[in-house]
Amino acid sequence: MAGFLADKVVAVTGGGGGIGRAVARAVAEEGAKVLVADYGVGMAGEDPTSEVAQAVVAEITQNGGEAIAVGDDISKMESGERLINTAIEAWGHIDGVVAVAGILRERMLFNMSEDEWDAVIATHLKGHFTVFRHAAAMMRKQESGSLIGFTSGAYVGSVAQANYSAAKGGIVSFVRSAAVGLHRYGVTANAIAPVARTRMSANVPVELAEMGDAEDIAPMVVYLLSDKAKHVTGQVYTVVGSKIAVWNQPTEVRAMWADGRWTPELIAARLDSNIGQERMGLIDKLEEIRQAAASQDKPNG
Ligand SMILES: NC(=O)c1ccc[n+]([C@@H]2O[C@H](COP(=O)([O-])OP(=O)(O)OC[C@H]3O[C@@H](n4cnc5c(N)ncnc54)[C@H](O)[C@@H]3O)[C@@H](O)[C@H]2O)c1
Repeated sequence: MAGFLADKVVAVTGGGGGIGRAVARAVAEEGAKVLVADYGVGMAGEDPTSEVAQAVVAEITQNGGEAIAVGDDISKMESGERLINTAIEAWGHIDGVVAVAGILRERMLFNMSEDEWDAVIATHLKGHFTVFRHAAAMMRKQESGSLIGFTSGAYVGSVAQANYSAAKGGIVSFVRSAAVGLHRYGVTANAIAPVARTRMSANVPVELAEMGDAEDIAPMVVYLLSDKAKHVTGQVYTVVGSKIAVWNQPTEVRAMWADGRWTPELIAARLDSNIGQERMGLIDKLEEIRQAAASQDKPNG
């Protein structure tokens, strides 16, 4: 055992598959005791099975590690509570939570059903709250702990993923709020926007410019869980292959003032020349893709 996380107790939601499995295995290899929490569902959240979490626990214990499987649906409040209570009962403390569980239900906004919206928001955004909420209560008492959320580059906007993108943006705001609220108790909160070859990324219809393996994400998670990262909080990191990038801290970029209260006429006269000129890069990129596709469609000559 390398021991980067010796004596720590870490819960990994979605730890039964994809990136979560790679994280759970790496965390165990570094000496942590691991709760592998996974509902064992298909990519849209269907057909749950407890075998998925149990299989990863078997892999960890075969390698000499310690792990417990929890097969609950993490979008439920009682699942988050049970997960943290299981850690406390088994090992007495909880030092890290890594919220990786996620599903996809892609649909254009004008066709998206209420159920497609609710299920994605519940699994991703509420699935962070259910565990972070109960972990934070313990971590506050311990005066230490590390919360790690999983967002996505899609949080800046995504064509047929309004539900997923909104959940991932919510996770960034949630993690930032946890970082601010828990700082005085010695608890950190950060988010990772991963890109990795899994069944989820295989479902994305466009070729991603950067790609790597689920195992490439784990070292950054291990670092953020460790005592070496006690000063790191409120950050969003992209992790893909051999690249780690940090996102900016959101801030206003420019402002304008009226002489007194604004009128719509004054705003119309001045907004375009000063404020609101930044185009969404995504819109331009989509336009490029459409034009390239249209020129390929044209018969030669
Ligand atoms: N793979 C990528 O390139 C990529 C890109 C951006 C963001 N992400 C995010 O990274 C995370 C992991 O993605 P992945 O590619 O490994 O996906 P994956 O589909 O391979 O794994 C997701 C895991 O979450 C579990 N899960 C789903 N709903 C659950 C629930 N309600 N309760 C408990 N467990 C549940 C599944 O059973 C599965 O094991 C997700 O949050 C995803 O949105 C992934």
